[in-house]
Amino acid sequence: MASVTSLTASVHQRLADALSAALPEAGSADPLLRRSDRADFQANGILALAKKLKGNPRELATQVVSRIESGDLLAGIEVSGPGFLNVTVTDKAIVETLAARAADGDRLGVPLNPHAGTTVIDYAQPNVAKEMHVGHLRSAVIGDALRHMLDFTGEKTIGRHHIGDWGTQFGMLIQYLIENPGQLAPAEDVDGEQAMSNLNRVYKASRAVFDADEEFKDRARKRVVALQSGDKETLELWQRFVDESKVYFYSVFEKLDVEVRDDEIVGESAYNDMMAETARLLEESGVAVRSEGALVVFFDDIKGKDDKPVPLIVQKADGGFGYAASDLSAIRDRVLGLHATTLLYVVDVRQSLHFKMVFEAARRMGWLNDDVTAHNMGYGTVLGADGKPFKTREGETVRLEDLLDEAVQRAAEVVREKARDLTEEEIQERAFQVGIGAVKYADLSTSANRDYKFDLDQMVSLNGDTSVYLQYAYARIQSILRKAGAQAGPVAHPELELAPAERALGLHLDAFGDTLAEAAAEYAPHKLAAYLYQLASLYTSFYDKCPVLKADTPAQTENRLFLCDITARTLHKGMALLGIRTPERL
Ligand code: ARG
Repeated sequence: MASVTSLTASVHQRLADALSAALPEAGSADPLLRRSDRADFQANGILALAKKLKGNPRELATQVVSRIESGDLLAGIEVSGPGFLNVTVTDKAIVETLAARAADGDRLGVPLNPHAGTTVIDYAQPNVAKEMHVGHLRSAVIGDALRHMLDFTGEKTIGRHHIGDWGTQFGMLIQYLIENPGQLAPAEDVDGEQAMSNLNRVYKASRAVFDADEEFKDRARKRVVALQSGDKETLELWQRFVDESKVYFYSVFEKLDVEVRDDEIVGESAYNDMMAETARLLEESGVAVRSEGALVVFFDDIKGKDDKPVPLIVQKADGGFGYAASDLSAIRDRVLGLHATTLLYVVDVRQSLHFKMVFEAARRMGWLNDDVTAHNMGYGTVLGADGKPFKTREGETVRLEDLLDEAVQRAAEVVREKARDLTEEEIQERAFQVGIGAVKYADLSTSANRDYKFDLDQMVSLNGDTSVYLQYAYARIQSILRKAGAQAGPVAHPELELAPAERALGLHLDAFGDTLAEAAAEYAPHKLAAYLYQLASLYTSFYDKCPVLKADTPAQTENRLFLCDITARTLHKGMALLGIRTPERL
């Protein structure tokens, strides 16, 4: 593995060196370099520096320019405007840097983060015995993408699917099963759909009895106590609900093309044995106090409508532990047991107050501190075409499976339309990759904290910022490479002069690693998505303006094939990091 310094970083270094050579008193001032349309890069840092040193910015800029080592890297540096530097790099530097990336296999020269740590990422957390709906889409999709991205930067990631598998409703479910045996088939005998339909039936039936029958309600309550105290028969029945639900979860995650590992499904129940101790530690340290019988944590800045403080409830007055106790116990486990340096939660923004309180309580306890930080991604809502939270026509929440099935169906239409020589099996396979990719990309290409409209027509459109557009760009390149076949292959030619469209594409390709590092550090998959979309657009203009197989010389054909190849590999890698497949043919 050979990591490659990006052109941006190299230019930045040259400018920084010249700055400190020209102005030792400036210390390590930042030249503030960014990509620009005028030249390849523009540096604005001298303006601020001149202000600080009370000098003339243009003069200062001229002084800096005279100190810059051009070497093979820089083709031109100009002072412009009030004191900007416009910097152009050589064609040779572009092609050579890309060649070094191309030689680095699937890492494409992207360096590992030297400060990598261990991130425990809490995502894809549905609830036992409940259907997964559109609300569960984002956590799985965003969490999966972030995980791939972080892994690629060298971070050690550990997944935690904090499924809702504990709580009072299990008393009702288990008690019903005891009184009406034979309602759940063994988990190994059912597929996802059957599992869910069994669970649904039991849920509805038990709910009906629970609401109508006071004595049953009482038995159900006692059952909760039996569950929490570890009664064997009760636990066995509880386990059947969990197992049956997992069959269903796995079937949905498979549809969603998100890999979930069994050892990372660690639900609320897993922390049951820690809760009493968590409560004791909180109470002994004074972080939590008794209030009306309950054990709670107060916060100065968190108040309700009536200006009364809203506490975090660790233990209810009846002795029961809830959601906060399991999350606080999970923090202890993740920090002390798994040695996490970062705790990342991919959970609906509507739970952000809960996490704010949980994190603050954990900080007061010292479980979180300067070395271990926690962050909630807090994603927004999936909206329907009407701009309201996505519902069926009947006003019910949309089942995630139905949504995915429909996306795949729509994609099949698009695929069938485009490629008439595919077998039905090939159409179905591509429809899966295109349809699921479309759903994921639409989700990932908007900043996670914003709401977005679920619009299948737009998602599978071939034009615009969609995954299909990116997948087509990739497939088109593969077809060019196949066509070139024996006649010519991708070879970098640093001696050639580049056309403007080639330079623009080349510079963008070089920025993959920098973009990824930023997107991963900010937990911002949409920045990677935007990068890939721009890459496909730049490739399209390159392809329009620069004939590949009919270039002027064989060397130029090879060099353009080289650009095609590294574009394809970058697209493939980038999409894979978002959890999206890139079919070889479309
Ligand atoms: N199961 C929860 C729900 O569906 C999400 C769990 C989020 N994670 C956590 N550590 N609280 O709302």
